[in-house]
Amino acid sequence: MSNARKVHVKSFGCQMNVYDSNRMADTLAPAGFAETATPDGADLVILNTCNIREKATDKVYSELGRLRMMKEEAAAQGRTMLIAVAGCVAQAEGQEILRRSGAVDLVVGSQNYHRLPEMIARAQSGEKVVDTEFPVEDRFDVLAAPSREQIAKRGVAAFVTVQEGCDKFCTFCVVPYTRGAEISRPVEKVAAEVERLASAGVREVTLIGQNVNGYHGLGADGAPAHFGALLRRLARVPGIERLRYTTSHPNDMDDDLIAAHADLPALMPYVHLPVQSGADRILEAMNRKHTRAQYLDVIARLRAARPDLAFTSDFIVGFPGETEEDFQDTLSLIEDVRYAGAYTFAYSPRPGTPAADLEDQVPPAEKTRRLHLLQALIARQQHDFNASFVGQTLPVLLEKPGRLPGQLVGKSPYLQAVQVMARATLIGSVVPVAITEMGTNTLFGVLAEEARAPVLVEAGA
Ligand code: SAH
Ligand code: SF4
Ligand code: F3S
Repeated sequence: MSNARKVHVKSFGCQMNVYDSNRMADTLAPAGFAETATPDGADLVILNTCNIREKATDKVYSELGRLRMMKEEAAAQGRTMLIAVAGCVAQAEGQEILRRSGAVDLVVGSQNYHRLPEMIARAQSGEKVVDTEFPVEDRFDVLAAPSREQIAKRGVAAFVTVQEGCDKFCTFCVVPYTRGAEISRPVEKVAAEVERLASAGVREVTLIGQNVNGYHGLGADGAPAHFGALLRRLARVPGIERLRYTTSHPNDMDDDLIAAHADLPALMPYVHLPVQSGADRILEAMNRKHTRAQYLDVIARLRAARPDLAFTSDFIVGFPGETEEDFQDTLSLIEDVRYAGAYTFAYSPRPGTPAADLEDQVPPAEKTRRLHLLQALIARQQHDFNASFVGQTLPVLLEKPGRLPGQLVGKSPYLQAVQVMARATLIGSVVPVAITEMGTNTLFGVLAEEARAPVLVEAGA
């Protein structure tokens, strides 16, 4: 409808944050809001924020500065532009956001966005609205489902939140405070969401949660199901060719989940398994509750189940008290594991977390030095990992048009982007691709059938 109001939702955070942004748009659609890709001309702008590091939080306030000017311009033209702050900064700072930025009309916590339609109605009548109470109802039961068109627009690979929150309380991390206690969605509710996605054309589902492998949702038999059981259930959904999951905690990698990697062809051979540090002293100070040796043992057991498994991790350098020797332990752990890639961070003290109050903070220049060394090592491993596929054939799920005309881009089982010349009707198919070359972040290849028999031309095509 041409007179529909427009909403722009901007994500600043992790995959769960992106998933939440989509669900906000889904929930506002029945209230008459159409999604738009930019804030220009939008009636409602939602910033879905991240609080994980100081930089992430700072971004929100600089964005609010820009939006304030847009809001003033809109008002000068006689239009109203509402500004909402959602997500983890909203959860952590609540009312404080209204104090720091007068342009904000409503603040909605990370668990409350199913109430957005009602909050917006209140904000429209001029009220400043803040809702950051953790709700008693299950927001997944209240949220509107996306339409088939919305699903199709978002592509053949989708995220589904199956677990939220965290009870682990790593001493550096805000997530237990911004996302609340760990909860898991029941198996059959997740299955119903995945079935709906599959019937609208989705072929790959990534299950997400802050500790996704700590999943313990209610099973069909009324007893809590572990994560492996959820994967086995979803692998049976017709149309779902690929399953992935993220993020995992090493301590929740149980035998059944490890076995699932051997048993389920749909489960992709790629695990993001953050370790943060390779030094036992630091792991303990971080409250990670496992040692370096225990982590390496989990990796070894996973590799025994599925020898080609690729691993990625998160690392923090410069945690308070980290010595040069501790840092060297991290580098040597990376040498032991051989990663396909990793996210690397300089420790950022977060207000309200135990580590922020520790003495012995590492000076910023030293953090930066360690970060660069770590990144160089990871870059070498990532390069070696990608290079090992040149000359091989990989099954690639083609997802969308690539950079060049006639090109499609898809994903390998190991989550590498692969560019290949192929007709658009192959989007949504898993095809064998002969890898010919590698770029910095992409592999290039040719359709394996065409590599063998290049003259299959469709008449009249
Ligand atoms: N639930 C996931 C991680 C969530 S946050 C897990 O447990 O692995 C994503 C990553 O951000 C973390 O793995 C960590 O490496 C990084 N991170 C979290 N808090 C941080 C902080 N205060 N400073 C720097 N990096 C941080
Ligand atoms: Fe944060 Fe640790 Fe929980 Fe991960 S496990 S979300 S790093 S507290
Ligand atoms: Fe950021 Fe919240 Fe995700 S703090 S990383 S958006 S859970």
